[in-house]
Amino acid sequence: MYKIVTKQELVPHINLFEFSAKEIAAKTKPGQFVILRIDEDGERIPLTIAGVNIVKGTITVVCHEVGKSTKQLGNLKQGDCILDLLGPLGKPAEIEKFGTVLCVGGGVMVAPLHFQVKALHDAGNKVIGVIGARTESHLIFEDEMWKVCDALYVATDDGTKGYKGLDFLKKLLKETKIDRVIVMGPVVTMKTVSELTRPHGIPTIVNLIPLMVDGMGMCGACRITVGGKTMFACVDGPDFDGHQVDFEELIARLKMFAAQEKLAFVFHEEGGRSL
Ligand SMILES: Cc1cc2nc3c(=O)[nH]c(=O)nc-3n(C[C@H](O)[C@H](O)[C@H](O)COP(=O)(O)OP(=O)(O)OC[C@H]3O[C@@H](n4cnc5c(N)ncnc54)[C@H](O)[C@@H]3O)c2cc1C
Ligand code: FES
Repeated sequence: MYKIVTKQELVPHINLFEFSAKEIAAKTKPGQFVILRIDEDGERIPLTIAGVNIVKGTITVVCHEVGKSTKQLGNLKQGDCILDLLGPLGKPAEIEKFGTVLCVGGGVMVAPLHFQVKALHDAGNKVIGVIGARTESHLIFEDEMWKVCDALYVATDDGTKGYKGLDFLKKLLKETKIDRVIVMGPVVTMKTVSELTRPHGIPTIVNLIPLMVDGMGMCGACRITVGGKTMFACVDGPDFDGHQVDFEELIARLKMFAAQEKLAFVFHEEGGRSL
């Protein structure tokens, strides 16, 4: 059993959880993820690790309630326990001195991006951060990002805070020498940024989180196509070259179980245990 030592609502439907998980904390590097299960009936929920505290023996994740299982997790309280926590999984992000790194995060993924940004900053890079959300009230980790970025831009889809959309990046990419770009967030954000950086030839790393089951390269659920080759995001990634990813296939695969997911959510909301 893994205890929730801290639960904090960052914005409505996005919660930060700190779990007591000493062995995972000791091995975790930025970019890796865990798969958790709340109880014996629980689905497996993959979440990217957003921080560790080696002294306390804890890991932090930030979870957006989007369906049945993430809602169940959101209903847990500080002091509650979950059944399983598997990890750290996936390859760690490459952290070295690249020069100037542009780090773009969208939605809930700004939290794990912050973990990577901190490591890149500590490795001597100049880090330009971009954080985005649908609207101002959904923005997370802005103060935390200010502390580890040399410059920070804010963008919202509706323009309620900062730039409206990501079009401003065109000018930034033209006027600034950038050595590497890292993107974590919705697939559409990763695709858009990869297309913006392609003409400049800037290496662009995207963090792919397709549907996963075992998280260990055995089930094939997370297969994606990169550079014409089939890869498994859980073991070959989750970081990939954004200029090589088949985003259309990824988008289609993410929608594969939409009907069943909706049904499971409705069933759960009406008091059923599981489908
Ligand atoms: C490696 C990895 C790391 C992840 N890290 C985080 C994280 O740090 N924080 C976080 O909030 N979520 C993260 N996710 C996504 C999270 O695991 C899913 O949102 C969750 O499993 C959905 O379960 P559910 O039963 O609540 O919703 P479901 O009923 O399964 O789905 C509800 C809706 O969310 C969409 N959805 C489900 N899974 C994904 C996915 N992987 N990517 C995009 N859309 C999805 C579905 O298409 C559907 O529209 C990660 C996923 C992976 C594979
Ligand atoms: S989740 Fe099963 S192979 Fe990646």
